[in-house]
Amino acid sequence: MPPEIIKGLKDVYFDTTTSSFIDGQEGKLLYRGYNIHDLAEKSTFEEVVYLLLYGKLPNEQQLEEFDQTMRANRRIPDEVIQVLDLVKASHPMDALRTGISALAAFDPEVKDNSVEATIRKGVRLTAQGPTIVAAHHRLRQGLEPVAPDPSLNHAGNFLKMLFDEVPDKDTTDLLDVDFILHAEHGSNASSFGARVTASTISDLHSAVTTGVGVLKGPAHGGAAEEVMKMALDIGQPENAEEYCRNILDNGGRIMGFGHRVYKAEDPRARHLRERSRVLSEKVGQPHWFQILTYVEEEVMVRYRSRGIFVNVDFFAGSIYYLLGIPDDLFISIFALGRIAGWTLQCAEQFEDNILLRPLMEYTGEMDLEYTAIGDRA
Ligand code: CMC
Repeated sequence: MPPEIIKGLKDVYFDTTTSSFIDGQEGKLLYRGYNIHDLAEKSTFEEVVYLLLYGKLPNEQQLEEFDQTMRANRRIPDEVIQVLDLVKASHPMDALRTGISALAAFDPEVKDNSVEATIRKGVRLTAQGPTIVAAHHRLRQGLEPVAPDPSLNHAGNFLKMLFDEVPDKDTTDLLDVDFILHAEHGSNASSFGARVTASTISDLHSAVTTGVGVLKGPAHGGAAEEVMKMALDIGQPENAEEYCRNILDNGGRIMGFGHRVYKAEDPRARHLRERSRVLSEKVGQPHWFQILTYVEEEVMVRYRSRGIFVNVDFFAGSIYYLLGIPDDLFISIFALGRIAGWTLQCAEQFEDNILLRPLMEYTGEMDLEYTAIGDRA
C-alpha cells in the first residue's frame, strides 16, 4: 500500500497550541482566546504582545513595566548597524533576516532555550526588529540611522526612525493596528518554519531568522507588495475588470485573495479596509481605494462561492503606500508584527518538544548499477 500523501500538509494537525484559534469557515480569529476584533479596536500592540507572550492581558502596572522594557531594548549594537551597511543593497527582508541573525552574536541568552529566556529574547527581538528595518532603510538611502526614541510607543518610534519625523497620532494608530493584526496566526508557513527550527533545539534567533525567510514569499507575506503593484498598474477603477480578467484567464492569481484556512472573509481584512478608505480620502487619493473595492466587489465577487475571499494583505498595501512607505518595506512590517507570534510558538515547541520530521514517498529509480566516472555517457 503506498502511503497517503497529504500535499502541502493541508488540514493536517501536528500539535496543540494555546496561541491562536482560527475558524476558517466562519472567518473567526482569537489570540489567546480574545477576538481579533476586540483587540484591533480596543488594544495597543504592546498589550497584544504581552497577551501573546504571557497568556493574559496585562493590568496597568504590568503594561507599564512591559512597555518600559520594550522601549529600553530598542537599540541594536553598532556592529549590527555595520553589518546592515554592508548589505544595504539587499531587499529589506534580507536585511532583516541578516540583522536578526547578527543580533544572536550579542544576545547574552542566545543559547538558553528555557521558556522564560525564549520569551525575554522574543521581547528584545520585537523591540529591536523595527530598529533593524529602519536603520537599513536609512543606510540604503545614504542617510544616518535615526536612534530609537523612548518617548514614543512601538509604532510611533518605528515611523520616526524610518522618516526622521515624529508621526501624528492617526498614523501611529494605523500602524499600531496593523502590527496587532499581523502578530499571530496559528500554523502559518513562517510559524511552522520557525517551529521546525526550534524543534531541532536550535534557538530563537535561528527560528525567527527562519520565519523571516519563509514569510518573504508572495504566497505568504509578500502579497501586500504585489497588491499595491497591481493597483498602480490598474491606475483607474475602470481598468480593473480587464486587468484582472487577463490574469485570471491565464491561470494567474489575484494577490490579496484566498487563504489556506479561511474560506470566508479573513477577519483581519475588515479593519484594514475601513482604515484604507478613511486614509485614502484624507490624503486626497480616493482612487486607490476605489480600485481595490472594484476588484473585491465586481471582479472577485465571483470567486466567493469557491471560498476565495479577501485576505489581510489586500488592503494593507494601500495603507502603507498612502503613508509613504516604499513597497519593498511592506513585508518587513508584517514580519515586525509577527515576531511575537513566532516567539510564542517557539516557546510552545521548546516546552513540549518533538523533532518535526515528516516523511516523503520516494518515486525515483531504484538499485541502479554504479558506473565509474570514465565509463559514463
Ligand atoms: N486568485 C485566483 N484564484 C485563486 C486565488 C487567487 N488569489 N487563490 C486561490 N485560487 C484558486 C487556485 O487557482 C485554485 O484553483 P483550482 O482548484 O481551479 O486549481 C484554488 O483556488 C485553490 O488554490 P490553492 O493554491 O490550492 O489553495 P491554497 O490553500 O494552497 O492557497 C494561497 C492559499 C494563499 C497560497 C492562495 O490563495 C494564493 O496564492 N493567494 C494569493 C497570494 C496571497 O494573497 N497570499 C497572502 C495570504 S494571507 C497572508 C498570510 O497569512 O500569509
